[in-house]
Amino acid sequence: MNKRDSIAPQPILLRDYVVPAFLLDRVDLTFELDETSTRVSSRLVLHRNPDHPVSDADLVLDGHELMLESVLLDGEPMSTDRYDVDDESLTIKGLGESAILEITTRIEPQKNTSLMGLYKSNGNFFTQCEAEGFRKITYYLDRPDVMTRFTTTIIADRSKYPVLLSNGNRVGEGQYDRNRHWVKWVDPFKKPSYLFALVAGKLSCLQDSFTTRSGRKVALEIYVEPQDLEKCHHAMESVKRSMKWDEDVYGLEYDLDSYMIVAVSDFNMGAMENKGLNIFNTKYVLARPETATDADYMGVEAVIAHEYFHNWTGNRVTCRDWFQLSLKEGLTVFRDQEFTADMTSRAVKRIDDVRTLRTAQFAEDASPMAHPVRPDSYIEINNFYTVTIYEKGAEVVRMYHTLLGAEGYRKGIDLYFKRHDGQAVTCDDFAAAMGDANGFDFTQFKRWYSQAGTPVVKVVSQFDAANQTYTLDISQTCPPTPGQPEKLPFHIPIALGLLDAAGAEIPLQLAGEASLQGTTRVLQLTEASQRFVFTGISAQPTPSLLRGFSAPVKLDYPWTRQELAFLMAHDSDSFCRWEASHTLIREVLLELIAAARASETLSLPGELVDAMRRALLDEAADPALIALMFTLPAETYLADQVDEIHPDAIRTAREYLRVALAKALRSEFKHTYARFCGATQAYRYAAVDIAKRALKNVCLGYLTSLDEPAFIELAQTQFQQANNMTDSQAALAALVELPQGATALADFANRWQDDPLVMNKWFTLQAMDKRADALDRVRALQQHPAFQITNPNKVYALLATFCSSNLAGFHRADGAGYAFAAEQILVLDKLNPQVASRLARSFNRWKKLEPTRRAQAKTALEKLAAHADLSRDVFEIISKNLA
Ligand code: PHE
Ligand code: ZN
Repeated sequence: MNKRDSIAPQPILLRDYVVPAFLLDRVDLTFELDETSTRVSSRLVLHRNPDHPVSDADLVLDGHELMLESVLLDGEPMSTDRYDVDDESLTIKGLGESAILEITTRIEPQKNTSLMGLYKSNGNFFTQCEAEGFRKITYYLDRPDVMTRFTTTIIADRSKYPVLLSNGNRVGEGQYDRNRHWVKWVDPFKKPSYLFALVAGKLSCLQDSFTTRSGRKVALEIYVEPQDLEKCHHAMESVKRSMKWDEDVYGLEYDLDSYMIVAVSDFNMGAMENKGLNIFNTKYVLARPETATDADYMGVEAVIAHEYFHNWTGNRVTCRDWFQLSLKEGLTVFRDQEFTADMTSRAVKRIDDVRTLRTAQFAEDASPMAHPVRPDSYIEINNFYTVTIYEKGAEVVRMYHTLLGAEGYRKGIDLYFKRHDGQAVTCDDFAAAMGDANGFDFTQFKRWYSQAGTPVVKVVSQFDAANQTYTLDISQTCPPTPGQPEKLPFHIPIALGLLDAAGAEIPLQLAGEASLQGTTRVLQLTEASQRFVFTGISAQPTPSLLRGFSAPVKLDYPWTRQELAFLMAHDSDSFCRWEASHTLIREVLLELIAAARASETLSLPGELVDAMRRALLDEAADPALIALMFTLPAETYLADQVDEIHPDAIRTAREYLRVALAKALRSEFKHTYARFCGATQAYRYAAVDIAKRALKNVCLGYLTSLDEPAFIELAQTQFQQANNMTDSQAALAALVELPQGATALADFANRWQDDPLVMNKWFTLQAMDKRADALDRVRALQQHPAFQITNPNKVYALLATFCSSNLAGFHRADGAGYAFAAEQILVLDKLNPQVASRLARSFNRWKKLEPTRRAQAKTALEKLAAHADLSRDVFEIISKNLA
């Protein structure tokens, strides 16, 4: 047995859940913030939980990397033989029915590079407690089903930390001693520790207010470093729009007197919904036209909405345990998706989300890390903030909405809050509320929570002219995933329509129905295979299947290329128009990849060119939709479509298609670029303008791929004259790999060297470089003064982008990419295990690689696994990859 075996981290299991032995009546915290050592005093008022199976259980408080100073029980110092302290806990024996514990600990936030618990960033203090960061602040029942009221007193140097924030309402402040001041906060709502937050520092504040529909005035405050104050207006507008939307659509009002957002540049994730005091990655707060792209603006609006929506879905009603994470995340993502759809373009938003789902979540479902929306085990919970929990979880909530309709869904939501406000609950409770409010049985539907993997839905159609029927035989299967060799049938809503030869919608009636029932129907597939017969169909229709992407499945239907081109032009469902183009392009690319592997000459099918030309020239169409049709699927997505990954063949095929389309549609791209070039002079964040910029920049990308001086000049001119980052970045991206790219990159860096968020874009563009020496460039960029390995955004922009998105660059035949990743993972693991673990996921596709690369990747993984001191985060990813 080697060292690793003896101490290998053990999984936590859902089926082991036990209610907490003690509950908290309240907690009072005092923080004495200091440069070298911070003292945290906590006063816990506890009582035994009558529901716990053991009546005299020990009190086990979680705690990690804490220096215990003292423990008082009911006001008296406790003798050390009455408690045990180890690396992970403080255990107190022999307590009665209730107790008051006063615990003092010391911590060193200035040394905390994990960005969990209390840490420093640019001289200011911040906390991050989800999922299990509170235990790095003080000993506590650090689990979401322990909810209580918090008061927090913060004491700190007045000049260094003029702003002192925590959850709830500010109830007092004063001078503590000569240089130090204090502020006291009371949060009137019960909450679990993961929603605790504290911020202290030199921050400027943008203020505004929102009056709720019942007439309460809420102070809105966004805190940032002083130089960033001018970049907060879009975030503030987004807050107000979110508050209004949640009132209008969900009937939910904000519940505190103030709502605070703080931006921090060192943050592992996007943002955090701490009660009344959200803490955000600067990436999702700061935006002005010169520095933020349209995508950034949309990201800010969506993440602000997401965190704001958590106040009800997550905070007022929270999760019983971390296996239920999707209860709050899937629901809140669905809410923010719908918000964005209402604020911008519903079709474009849906397509964007489906692309993410397919590229990232389907890949996860096919990887060694595949897990259900409600996992039944984990080694490190931080590894489960995944696209499956978030995005697939949102699809699950969307399916309730599809099955129940908007009204039925709202009834379910209302019942959910009526039953569970102030509680910590499970996904079963959510399903029960949805079902009970509507008399709908979700028993089978709940398999979406317990079975991992992406179902494949196969449709076979048959038109019967004599009987005027159109029959769909629909069957489902789901591939095995770790620990789940076989699956039971899912309950799958399949929205569809049928088009006649002219492209018009056919009113639909199923056999046995008395009347026509509209043109889009939602079929419910619950069996392994089922037959649906439409009557009164007089001629062969073209089916439009899975409208709006009504379920997170892979659809298998043998459309001809003509049918796909027809759907692209005629489907009334915009999602399906795009989907038809995507299917067509995917098929062509798969053929090209096969041809590239066989070293055959590549050629561009005429049907594709014609269909794409028609789309491009359709001046009545939404330019955003056209832009999306011309956005080729990512290399990584293509890698997931083939049986064996040959990264170079994928790259060759995709690049060939890009240039071939550019050649075939040269004049149309030129014309379209010109059409939209001057169309958005002064920058406005508005869907119509975003759409025009998107299509214009897609055209620019194709044109520059032709390597003609006139088009390169076009890109250079756009780069120099752009008054917004969307156009500037698009032009830079078009130039990067050309000889002219070096100057453009230098100009860009020179202009933006002091803006970390803009520099992230500069790193990302270079991490995606398709030239053979990409890895050398990435290594060189690590030495750039703007790169810092301790800053997660920088690691994601450069290292994670290279390792997880630059398919052929990372998966180099000589294995140098794997060796590089392994080396960086080990460095990062010592600093920030969560970030290291994200990088480790770049190996998730390794088993599907062609043999040479597979062997190289395996060697790198095995070397990593041999390190006995890996964090639980990295250990879990590596061991599951090798399992
Ligand atoms: N709960 C956060 C969100 O989804 C994400 C998060 C998780 C942030 C863990 C930090 C740490 O909004
Ligand atoms: Zn969330």
